[in-house]
Amino acid sequence: MKIDSLSDAKIVESWVKNAPSWIIAVRDGQIESRRQVTDQAILDTVLSRSPRSVLDIGCGEGWLARELAVENIHVIGIDVVPRLVEVAQHAGGGDFRVLSYEELAAGKLSVSVDVVVCNFALLGKESVEGVFSVAQSLLNRDGVFIVQTLHPVMVCGGLPYRDGWREGSWAGFSSDFTDPASWYFRTFESWTKLFVDGGFRLLEMREPIHPTTGKPASVVFVAEPAPY
Ligand SMILES: C[S@@+](CC[C@H](N)C(=O)[O-])C[C@H]1O[C@@H](n2cnc3c(N)ncnc32)[C@H](O)[C@@H]1O
Repeated sequence: MKIDSLSDAKIVESWVKNAPSWIIAVRDGQIESRRQVTDQAILDTVLSRSPRSVLDIGCGEGWLARELAVENIHVIGIDVVPRLVEVAQHAGGGDFRVLSYEELAAGKLSVSVDVVVCNFALLGKESVEGVFSVAQSLLNRDGVFIVQTLHPVMVCGGLPYRDGWREGSWAGFSSDFTDPASWYFRTFESWTKLFVDGGFRLLEMREPIHPTTGKPASVVFVAEPAPY
């Protein structure tokens, strides 16, 4: 069956295909914005909460878990791509499992952690809404949900500033990457609504600045469960 090109399923298909190139790109530090800005931004934000336990949703090949493990933080990482989970397990630093956002939303993971984090891992539409629908249930009482994602204003380009599927591209990545999936653009207003609808209240919004361009390289949201 052919997968709809504007769908969460297509995103997963693309990651399965590109996992080997992704592992090399991350481990060789090929992604300049990560090296210069966003890796440190997500680390600083997570560590600012002094967590003892972290759930890394869409953990990829596991670099964030390995960094957090150095600080004696127990990390559980989930990702839908078996190859990524396999290499994460091999490198260590966390308890890594193959699990999709859809399975997560269906209640297939029962954990209670200090921080739930998603680092550039919320790319689709329904799958992302599913993550937000269960994120609160995965947190300890004083836990927080941290999301680093593309800065909506910086990546909007010439298109209208409104939610919708956008054409994917591996521009800036090595030529080994193929078949980019479309991704779902969200405005700041829509990101905020996802948090509120998921039962959260925003505590912080960070805009890490790229040292060369002087522009935001991403946005980092920090949210806590809203009081009843
Ligand atoms: C840009 S990578 C980020 C990986 C990692 N967080 C990092 O910082 O290197 C996006 C990740 O989201 C995962 N992903 C995308 N859709 C998913 C889904 N529906 N269920 C689980 N993982 C998914 C991909 O497999 C991929 O590892």
